Amino acid sequence: MQQIIAIIDQVMGDAFEKAGYDRKLGKTVLSNRPDLCEYQCNGAMAGAKAYHCAPFQIAEAVVKELEGNPIFSDVQMVKPGFINLKLDNAFLADYLKQMSTDENLSVEKAAQPKKIIIDYGGANVAKPLHVGHLRSAVIGETIKRILRFKGHEVIGDVHLGDWGLQMGLIITELKHRQPELPYFDPGFEGEYPAEAPFTIGELEEIYPCASGKSKEDAAYKEEAMQATYELQHGNRGYFALWQHILSVSIEDLKKNYGNLNVEFDLWKKESDAQPYIPDMVQRLKDEGYAHEDQGALVVDVKEETDTKEIPPCMILKSDGSSLYNTTDLATLVMRREIWDPDHVIYVVDKRQELYFTQVFRCARKTHIVKDETELTFLGFGTMNGKDGKPFKTRSGGVMRLEHLIADINEEMFKKIMENHEADPDEARETAKTVALSAIKYGDLSNQAAKDYIFDTDKFTSFEGNTGPYILYTIVRIKSILNRYEKEGGKLGEYSYLPAQNESEKALSLKLTGFAAVIEQAAQELAPHKICSYIYELANEFNRFYHETRILACEDSERKASLIALLELTRRVLEQSIDLLGFDAPERM
Ligand code: ARG
Repeated sequence: MQQIIAIIDQVMGDAFEKAGYDRKLGKTVLSNRPDLCEYQCNGAMAGAKAYHCAPFQIAEAVVKELEGNPIFSDVQMVKPGFINLKLDNAFLADYLKQMSTDENLSVEKAAQPKKIIIDYGGANVAKPLHVGHLRSAVIGETIKRILRFKGHEVIGDVHLGDWGLQMGLIITELKHRQPELPYFDPGFEGEYPAEAPFTIGELEEIYPCASGKSKEDAAYKEEAMQATYELQHGNRGYFALWQHILSVSIEDLKKNYGNLNVEFDLWKKESDAQPYIPDMVQRLKDEGYAHEDQGALVVDVKEETDTKEIPPCMILKSDGSSLYNTTDLATLVMRREIWDPDHVIYVVDKRQELYFTQVFRCARKTHIVKDETELTFLGFGTMNGKDGKPFKTRSGGVMRLEHLIADINEEMFKKIMENHEADPDEARETAKTVALSAIKYGDLSNQAAKDYIFDTDKFTSFEGNTGPYILYTIVRIKSILNRYEKEGGKLGEYSYLPAQNESEKALSLKLTGFAAVIEQAAQELAPHKICSYIYELANEFNRFYHETRILACEDSERKASLIALLELTRRVLEQSIDLLGFDAPERM
């Protein structure tokens, strides 16, 4: 169905045309002075010069053409030539009805659906998820859902880091601790055990220990580098160990991402791209894209218009080994071969922006991607603590994601128990749902590229611009709708009467803006636009709720209309939070 703004543009364009002016001047926007009008058209101002007349002359002629038009209840020319518009309440009621019967709530599917891969998550195997990984998962998940809702084919890929020195470090530490294991016996020809020789807990202790040692002990580091090399060059025992590390670690990651309501379609890893490297490197050499520079193989990616230095993209180190770059380029080769995407979006810490500039330029220049393939770097800022420094535990250590979530769950549980007497088991479940909204909304309501302060008190508050406030509003609506049903009322009727007062109209108008917001969020990859929208919508709803007798309304036709408005508000809010990646409990 048509967006409401498109209907208005159409009517305004017609009016300009009938009055003898270019219909493009009819472009109308939401008013930024809702006290004066709801929509505003400034086309007469823009047209005055071209038509050599005063803006008010154009505006007056257009206003005349709009006389009696059923979509407006009020059309005003305001000097020097603005046109202020108010929508007709019956038209609005009719629009809401159409919107209610549309399962996509008036959001149109993309005319040309694209195949889009989103590279997000980016966890590293054998290292616990820390808060730094939170943003990629949370933002990537919502971008995936928004683009899917717009009708695109979207593939989410976690792109696990499993190919670096961290593997050699773990193998080395294990070798020191348990040299008797068959993985370290070069003569071993049998089958390796099916069980991993460590648990996830042990693994998470082994890595930081090994990493610490390697920083102090050069021989240890050398050993780890050697182990990494051997792993990558066919050491059978190391390969078997690496597979254990992967499976133990991935199982744990799935659980952790699951707790965040984050789901990947692909669990591809850096190692999956390795087989594509030799041919890719050969081609870059053969076709003259890559050249040697101090022993390393590089591709120049600087451009004339650069204002700052963009260093060459390194493909192979002087010892012939590949790097993070090489893997990302080979991953693009793999993605093209298997999925042939129209667009690849990377949701990664913005500190990697220069790096991705190099990778993208290199991929374009060397035709690793097709000319028409879009590559987007969606860089996010740092999550800081209240002191403005990167978020830490109370004792100053790196905060694990699991612990952060557990802390917020606990906080929420206390709040819920304080608010009202609740069954502790139910309250625990509810607390989890509400806590997730606090964490995700707290993150997503900021523009992704900006740093933000993770403020537990603020994020978990039931008032203000927070996830819990949105959920609270949804729960409030659900409870009214439940009571209405208990009293014998029927839901899903959607029979709207024209709005009877200001707050009812304001809520109606806000609802009709949903499609435009989703459109914009999808265009600009900007989930924070959905957050601001639902915050405003929740505010409009609560104002309406406080001023309106709903269940006590005696006129049953009017009551049904109010209920329809409530149902639509609930659906728009629930659809929105689903796009943001969290949901609402039944009670809270
Ligand atoms: N594992 C990487 C890190 O922890 C993030 C991966 C981002 N994605 C990519 N295609 N490079 O920094």
